[in-house]
Amino acid sequence: MPITERVGHMALRVPDLDEAVDFHTHVLGLVETERNGGTSYLTCNERHHELVLIQQEGDARGYEHIGLEVADAEALERARSGIAAAGGELIGPTYDGEPGIDRAALVRGPGGHVYKFFCGMEGGQSLPEGDRVVKFEHFSVKARGLGGTERFIQEGLGFKFSDRMGRTASWWHCSSDHHGMAVVLAPKHELSHYAWTAPDLNAIGRICDRLWSRGQKLIWGPSRHGPGNNLFAYFHDPAGAMIEICADIAQMPPDGDYVARQWPGGLGSINQWGGTPPPRFLLTGFPIAPDAGRIPST
Ligand SMILES: [Fe+2]
Repeated sequence: MPITERVGHMALRVPDLDEAVDFHTHVLGLVETERNGGTSYLTCNERHHELVLIQQEGDARGYEHIGLEVADAEALERARSGIAAAGGELIGPTYDGEPGIDRAALVRGPGGHVYKFFCGMEGGQSLPEGDRVVKFEHFSVKARGLGGTERFIQEGLGFKFSDRMGRTASWWHCSSDHHGMAVVLAPKHELSHYAWTAPDLNAIGRICDRLWSRGQKLIWGPSRHGPGNNLFAYFHDPAGAMIEICADIAQMPPDGDYVARQWPGGLGSINQWGGTPPPRFLLTGFPIAPDAGRIPST
């Protein structure tokens, strides 16, 4: 039975909170909806937040957690109850009172990846006119082995299988988007990238223009992926995590009708328009923060 209903947000520990907020507001068009001490909540739509930036302490750089939305408090407890059998562990109790959401619970999956199930996202944000991304779309984690992580994705997080490429990567969905998450075989457990939906290719181009005006170049793209069929462009955020801007991601047919696709191994099928990914794309990773999975003081 599905648990995750929507990919919710990314939470990152960053070395310079003001610099990070400035980047995401000016390049992606995000709006800061709330700042609570050293934590900034940002959105691009009616939801209270789809990105959480936390001022890191010392050199504790990395991602804090990945937010996954479930239907309600009952679904939250049901999600928690299946974590151990799926190969993960609970981090503390269910808690409430965090800005923008009703209830949440943190869990740790294979390799130390940290997820936050939550329910009751506050809506109704009214944003000023702006050229911005549409929603937080997906994330991709790196893992030293795919087997345990894929079992956890399916049985613990409740995602459904979409596609596989050789023996090195797989894509998973929780909504009508072809993928809400992906996992890639890699030497370390870390974040590969987090991704936003842009309205179209022109909007991706305007984001690239704003990056260029800040003296920053792309890592890879624009081009079109094989799995997911989405347009893409990759670049770093100021903390060093890789962002993907997407458009046109494939939409899944009604539940049960999708036939999972096996793409050839190697890296050729990952890019429809151009060549294989550059080393900088393959080598980029953002660590799991050493203190990831902290229950925030509210
Ligand atoms: Fe991606």
